[in-house]
Amino acid sequence: MLIFCLFVLFLKLGHGHIVSQRQSFSNSSTKLDWATAQSKAAAFVAQLTIEEKINITQGGIDSGPCVGNIGSIDRLAFPGICFQDGPIGMTRAQLVSAFPAGVTTAAIWDRELVYERGRAMGAEFKAKGAHVMLGPVVGPIGRQPLGGRNWEGFGTDPYLAGATVSATVRGLQDNGVQACTKHFVGNEQESRRDSGSSNGTKVQAISSNIDDRTLHELYAWPFADAIKAGTASIMCSYNRVNSVYACENSELLNHMLKKELGFQGYVLSDFFALQSTTSSANNGMDLEMPGRMTTLGNLPLPADNYFFGKHLLAAVQNGSVSISRLDEMATRVLTPYFLLGQDHEYPPPDPATLASLAAAQWGLPAMLESGYPFQIVPARDVRADHATIVRRGAAAGTVLLKNTNNALPLQSPQHIAILGNDAAELLDSRGFSDMNGWESGTYFIGGGSGSVNLEDTVSPLQAIRDRAKSYGASVKWLLNNTNIQQGTKGFYPVPDVCLVFLKSWATESQDRPSFELEFNATEVVNFVASWCANTVVVTHSAGVNTLPWARNANVTAILAAHYPGDQGGYAIADVLFGDQDPGGRLPYTIPEKPEDYDFPIVDCADVSNVDGCQSDFTEGQLIDYRHFDAKNITPLYEFGYGLSYTTFAISSSLKISSLAKNISAVPDVALHVEVGGHPDLWEQVIAIQATVSNIGERSGEAVPQLYISFPEGVPEGTPVKVLRGFDKILLQPGETKTVTFGLLRRDVSFWNADAKIWTVPVGEFVARAGFSSRDLPAETKFTLRK
Ligand SMILES: *[C@@H]1O[C@H](CO)[C@@H](O)[C@H](O)[C@H]1NC(C)=O
Ligand SMILES: *[C@@H]1O[C@H](CO)[C@@H](O)[C@H](O)[C@H]1NC(C)=O
Ligand SMILES: *[C@@H]1O[C@H](CO)[C@@H](O)[C@H](O)[C@H]1NC(C)=O
Ligand SMILES: *[C@@H]1O[C@H](CO)[C@@H](O)[C@H](O)[C@H]1NC(C)=O
Ligand SMILES: *[C@@H]1O[C@H](CO)[C@@H](O)[C@H](O)[C@H]1NC(C)=O
Ligand SMILES: *[C@@H]1O[C@H](CO)[C@@H](O)[C@H](O)[C@H]1NC(C)=O
Ligand SMILES: *[C@@H]1O[C@H](CO)[C@@H](O)[C@H](O)[C@H]1NC(C)=O
Ligand SMILES: *[C@@H]1O[C@H](CO)[C@@H](O)[C@H](O)[C@H]1NC(C)=O
Repeated sequence: MLIFCLFVLFLKLGHGHIVSQRQSFSNSSTKLDWATAQSKAAAFVAQLTIEEKINITQGGIDSGPCVGNIGSIDRLAFPGICFQDGPIGMTRAQLVSAFPAGVTTAAIWDRELVYERGRAMGAEFKAKGAHVMLGPVVGPIGRQPLGGRNWEGFGTDPYLAGATVSATVRGLQDNGVQACTKHFVGNEQESRRDSGSSNGTKVQAISSNIDDRTLHELYAWPFADAIKAGTASIMCSYNRVNSVYACENSELLNHMLKKELGFQGYVLSDFFALQSTTSSANNGMDLEMPGRMTTLGNLPLPADNYFFGKHLLAAVQNGSVSISRLDEMATRVLTPYFLLGQDHEYPPPDPATLASLAAAQWGLPAMLESGYPFQIVPARDVRADHATIVRRGAAAGTVLLKNTNNALPLQSPQHIAILGNDAAELLDSRGFSDMNGWESGTYFIGGGSGSVNLEDTVSPLQAIRDRAKSYGASVKWLLNNTNIQQGTKGFYPVPDVCLVFLKSWATESQDRPSFELEFNATEVVNFVASWCANTVVVTHSAGVNTLPWARNANVTAILAAHYPGDQGGYAIADVLFGDQDPGGRLPYTIPEKPEDYDFPIVDCADVSNVDGCQSDFTEGQLIDYRHFDAKNITPLYEFGYGLSYTTFAISSSLKISSLAKNISAVPDVALHVEVGGHPDLWEQVIAIQATVSNIGERSGEAVPQLYISFPEGVPEGTPVKVLRGFDKILLQPGETKTVTFGLLRRDVSFWNADAKIWTVPVGEFVARAGFSSRDLPAETKFTLRK
């Protein structure tokens, strides 16, 4: 691995600016007044009949035009609440932006740009009249590299995912839109994520069996950040956790979310995830979705089997769910509505909402013949100037993995060859369709409920041709992967550069079948590299892939562009031609070979044992780089890695700029839990400074990262090191800046599962900083408790 860890001359140090990693870029969410919102909601609920309260805790397809709806109450001028799918833009809608995917966003490592993305996305939901975005995603976290929904989430490290979700929630909610952070928790594979039936016998969903410490330090960690940032709602997941369905799991919902983390919003079920009435209501579930399935003309709706509504009413009437619990549920559901000011002049839903949704779900002909009076009108265009942020975010989330012989950025090459089916125009611009196995066309997004219609895209081929044309270069292309293997004829002269575009598909409901890029990708690269000594590979993919050709000397550069969103063609041209520094750093680890990962998708195909699908998370916290560290496996490209077009250096020593001396082992018991958990956990206990310089010839964005190793003596299962700080800083050639990593009590605590409390261990921590999880030349030590 190429390592950029040259040490800085001490001379330069005096000229640095100080940059803090915790910029306060959000202006409103710190002011969220939950108490006032709660009393407004309670006062509102006090005016409701019991049937109306029941209606507040359950959606209904006929209650509004959105994918999830709470119906209106006209006598109280309550317009209802509209829920639309995210998390990369509004699903099943027209004239919206497809933003960079979750994995792409995690690769940005820049809280401010992530905030801007969230803010622009939220603006679209608001302009469409949606009160709630069903997103962002921090579950799955990506335990299983082939998990079908990892691309929707923010990478495999809880600290990075936590920072990314926090900025996203703030960005969304600063518009007055509610975030619904999902899926809580343990939905780490798609295969048998939910229950089913076999020959009339109920087949249980997979059970993710997770110990308490791992739950706290890994899977629930980013949810705590989302709550701290003010997320209005949290979606419970389909699967079971420790044998109890996540949506009726008191340990998770009542205890962890609401008590320990002080969550004041509402828990919403993943769609059709509920399994019970009284257990769900009493164990902490507040809102069932999608709820009633009454009628949309003759369109085939899912069976009208739900668990709240009239069932909840019966349960309240016979006393198995208390009226105070029902009041609490309704109050929780309505609190964010008041919290975010949605009771004042919120835009009504786009009149095209229901028709767009029906057209996506059932197709135009069925919709037109349904007999239902759909309002078929042009949709509201809510995209504003968001293409700019999509394009910038896509480039900022593109990771340069290899760059030899100054292959990139391109220096006006005269003869360019473009190869591979991923360079082609997308063959399907309809989000929400499954392009699995579609040979031709680039993958700018993944599939399932997290997909988005693509309005305004150009293919990588077109974007590069436009660039080449601007300075008179010649471009030849061959985009059929099968033909490439016989396809040297006609390329003349030897191209200055051969750009090979590869892809792999991921979608909800399926896990990925393999680590390799698709459509004979390996053969394609090897074949092109056999005659083209300057082969540059670009991948559009969901995340972890194997790259068996990475060490081929003729493969001079590799860019992992992930799923970039609708401006992906322009964004990759920006990076290739050097208008943008490839800003991304890996939010996961790329292995040498699949066996380096030890987390196979659990095969649940055998349904004869209806309770048999168990996934034991025996590795505890040791996923991704923590697994590679623990097992001493050398990855191909490690977590945090990514090159720039310039070169950065970090000083070998780290400075401790402030330190709380001899702090208590645990948070002060006299203080009360606030939104986000015990307030002490969010107090800074140490600040560590690193000095970073640009020693190259171009300006570029460095991503200094700080990892800590816990003192000896912490319980078994503690990772060798964990990420606890990062920043993204723009540096001009020759420029030096000081970066400050502020660590909170939570960052230096482990979850003591016996005492059930976050605990700062006695002894010496080691902090290391650098430019990836395996390039950490700067080091210091500190002790918080003697
Ligand atoms: C937050 O800042 C943005 C601009 O950055 C501004 O448009 C918005 O009105 C501000 N919101 C609040 C609540 O101050
Ligand atoms: C509950 O919602 C349904 C569907 O929108 C509606 O028909 C019914 O009148 C509502 N009930 C009450 C009591 O508001
Ligand atoms: C369902 O029952 C039929 C008839 O008894 C049997 O052939 C089939 O294998 C059963 N399917 C499963 C999945 O158990
Ligand atoms: C009360 O009603 C609920 C919902 O219909 C039902 O599941 C439960 O068994 C009932 N309990 C009693 C004690 O009747
Ligand atoms: C690519 O070429 C192969 C072999 O000629 C052919 O079978 C296949 O249909 C082509 N693919 C497309 C998308 O045209
Ligand atoms: C992959 O290559 C094999 C032969 O090496 C060929 O039969 C097959 O059609 C190719 N598949 C694609 C999708 O190009
Ligand atoms: C690299 O390209 C040259 C042609 O420029 C070729 O001779 C050589 O075999 C290639 N190497 C590999 C490993 O494909
Ligand atoms: C450290 O703090 C503990 C209480 O948290 C106290 O008992 C102890 O005396 C302190 N030690 C030093 C060296 O200050």
